[in-house]
Amino acid sequence: MDKFVIEGGKRLVGDVSVKGAKNSTLPILAATLLAEDEFIIENIPRVRDIFTMKRVLETLGVSISLEDDTIYIDTRGAVGFEAPYNLVKQMRASYYVLGPLLSRLGRTRVSLPGGCAIGPRPIDLHIKGLKALGADISVVHGYIEGYGERLKGSKILLLGPNGPSVGATINTMMAAVKADGVTMIEGAAMEPEVVDVVNFLKRCGADIQGEGTRKIEIRGVKKLSGCKYRVIPDRIEAGTFAVAATITGGDIYLRDVSCNYIGSILSKLKEIGATISLEEDCVGVRMDGDIMPIDIETAPYPGFPTDMQAQFTSLLSLSNGVSVVKDSIFEERFMHVPELVRMGANLKREVDYVIIKGVPCLSGAQVMASDLRASAALLIAGLAAEGTTEISRIYHIDRGYESIETRLATLGAAIWRLKE
Ligand code: UD1
Repeated sequence: MDKFVIEGGKRLVGDVSVKGAKNSTLPILAATLLAEDEFIIENIPRVRDIFTMKRVLETLGVSISLEDDTIYIDTRGAVGFEAPYNLVKQMRASYYVLGPLLSRLGRTRVSLPGGCAIGPRPIDLHIKGLKALGADISVVHGYIEGYGERLKGSKILLLGPNGPSVGATINTMMAAVKADGVTMIEGAAMEPEVVDVVNFLKRCGADIQGEGTRKIEIRGVKKLSGCKYRVIPDRIEAGTFAVAATITGGDIYLRDVSCNYIGSILSKLKEIGATISLEEDCVGVRMDGDIMPIDIETAPYPGFPTDMQAQFTSLLSLSNGVSVVKDSIFEERFMHVPELVRMGANLKREVDYVIIKGVPCLSGAQVMASDLRASAALLIAGLAAEGTTEISRIYHIDRGYESIETRLATLGAAIWRLKE
């Protein structure tokens, strides 16, 4: 297992290009199963979750190769219908093959994902969506089994207790694109990754309207074809670099960003005191002076993303006052809190929020990563802390950030990857 060693206190300065969005690449790769054809998908982030999805597709008989940031896919020989436990347990998003396999083969068997460090993550809405299209779904021996020779369009409300679901919206959409008749998804997720998947499906020949709103209408088509498609930039990666620049009093220029998609993140950084400059697909982030305390509550898009909560908690640990950060989307998404406390942060967790009393400095310590965004938070804290921080279990960060240490080092960070 690898670990990161960081000597804190270096300002981040310079340019960095943002990679493609992991969370739209994953379903787009799964959606290639909907056609028997060839695809070229560009702007693929080279992160562990993408390699896991590649293995899932190979298990199903898809021929797939990754060269630099472009993936070449041939789905003509895909006949498998099962995503096994050993892959799904590494990455929940393997469930994205459920909808496409049902549509293609009328049959699927996908392991239930099981536990997750950020709390219970039910998949009842995915099942609800597929059942509404006429699929027969049951859970047997730890697997979701689905049958449905002819899926049929339907009206489906996909809202859960915590609001819309990105995954269930996308899975249901993928199952519906070749169903008979019209499907109306109400309570749909509006996240940019949902829109990206829709744009990809349209390029393949799907007939979809309403993406980016709470109502998506899908008119079933007989057949989809292969295409060439470029994935949108990763808004969470952009946000993570922006927070890293702010906490180090840095001055960076983010290239290849979708500025429209990171409005809620940038407006919080402005409130904190950062100077933000926007240009077409670039963002400048500069920080001089004190970190101001602010309150944050996560919400579905276009609200503040839950995937940025942990990184902002690190940043606000060094503010000159008291902040409250609330996240009710995932119950246990506070695993970074005790680790940040070990670095000298003054944090008090209540059920779904953290009270942050800013301290003048953090001190480097040995800490442990617990999930993807919690690891990013520890990395950010380590960049600003006095002395040396060692982060173990960094395979979590490798799930979603490509060569993060090399790119931070180019900006001036003192960070090394070592074997534990
Ligand atoms: C996706 C992102 C994840 C992000 C999350 C919310 C991917 C691979 N992951 O996860 O990084 O944090 O969106 O923006 O894209 N829920 C149910 N039943 C379901 C499904 C979800 O109750 O069947 C609940 C969840 O527990 C959560 C809420 O709905 O409280 C939102 O989850 P969802 O949008 O589905 O998250 P994911 O798609 O898993």
